[in-house]
Amino acid sequence: YVDTGLMRKDEGEEVEDILRSLGAKNILLVDAKERFLGRLAGVVDPEEKRRIIGDVFIEVQRNEASEHLSGNYYLAQGTLYTDVIESGEGVGDKAHVIKSHHNVGTPLVRAKREAGELIEPLGSLYKDEVRRLGSILGMGNAIVGRHPFPGPGLAVRILSDVTEEKLRILREADDIYISELRSRGLYYRVWQAFCVLLPVRSVGVAGDTREYGCVLALRAVLSEDGMSADVFDFPMGDLLEISTRITNRVKGVGRVVYDISSKPPATIEWE
Ligand code: XMP
Repeated sequence: YVDTGLMRKDEGEEVEDILRSLGAKNILLVDAKERFLGRLAGVVDPEEKRRIIGDVFIEVQRNEASEHLSGNYYLAQGTLYTDVIESGEGVGDKAHVIKSHHNVGTPLVRAKREAGELIEPLGSLYKDEVRRLGSILGMGNAIVGRHPFPGPGLAVRILSDVTEEKLRILREADDIYISELRSRGLYYRVWQAFCVLLPVRSVGVAGDTREYGCVLALRAVLSEDGMSADVFDFPMGDLLEISTRITNRVKGVGRVVYDISSKPPATIEWE
C-alpha cells in the first residue's frame, strides 16, 4: 500500500484495517509522501499531475518489488472499464481522452501492459458490476458501498499546485463533509461526494476582522457507473448546516458553494 500523501484523513490506517479484515497477509506499507509531493511541486495542469502520479506509483512499486521479490512478477490493478474508456483506450477508434487515469495511460503503465506484466481482473466491468461481484464474494456493505475515490487522490481536487497546507485544508473539510453525510443518513443515498479546493479566495468577515479565505466546493452526485451523473438534490437545511460547520472549523475556508453540474457536460471530478 503506497501512501502517496494524497489520501484523505486517516485513510492509510483505514485501508490497512480493511485489507487485514479481508484476510490479506504480507501487507507492506510504503510511505512515499515526500516523493509524490516533491514531484508534484508547482504542477498545475491536471493531465500532468496524473502522469506524474502514475509514474511515481510505478517507480515506487518497482523499487519495493526489487527489494522484496525475486524473479519476474506481475502487477495486479483494480482498473475498471470506465478508467479505460475515459483514458481513450476503449473499444473502437472513436475513443477520446477525457482523463488519463493514472492506472491506464501513463507511459510506464503502458510499458508494463505491453510486456504482459499487468493483471486487471476488473478491467471489463463497470463500477456497479464490481459492486455486485464484491457482494457475491461476501464483502460487507462498508467496503462495497464505499464512495469511489480516484487514484490521483486529493491532487485532482486541489485546482492549483498541491501543497501541504492545501492538503490540510481539504482533508479537514472533506472529513467533516463525509462524517456529516454519514451521521445524517445521506452517505448511501449519494453515489459519490467530496470537497474541491478552488484556486479562488474571497473576502469574508469573522467577528469584526476581514478574512480572505479559500472557496470550497461541495460535490454530491447520483450515478450507476460513473459514466454519467446527476446532481444530488441535497436537502437545503443539511447543506446550510454542513457549510456552517466547515467554515467554523476549518481555518482557511471562507466560503462554501455547492456544485450543481451534471455529467455531461461536467465530469464528476473537477480535474
Ligand atoms: P469523472 O471525473 O471522469 O470520474 O467523471 C468518473 C469516476 O472516476 C473517478 N476518477 C478516477 N479514478 N483515476 C482513478 O482511479 C483517475 O485518474 C480518475 N479520475 C476520475 C472519479 O472519482 C469518478 O468516480
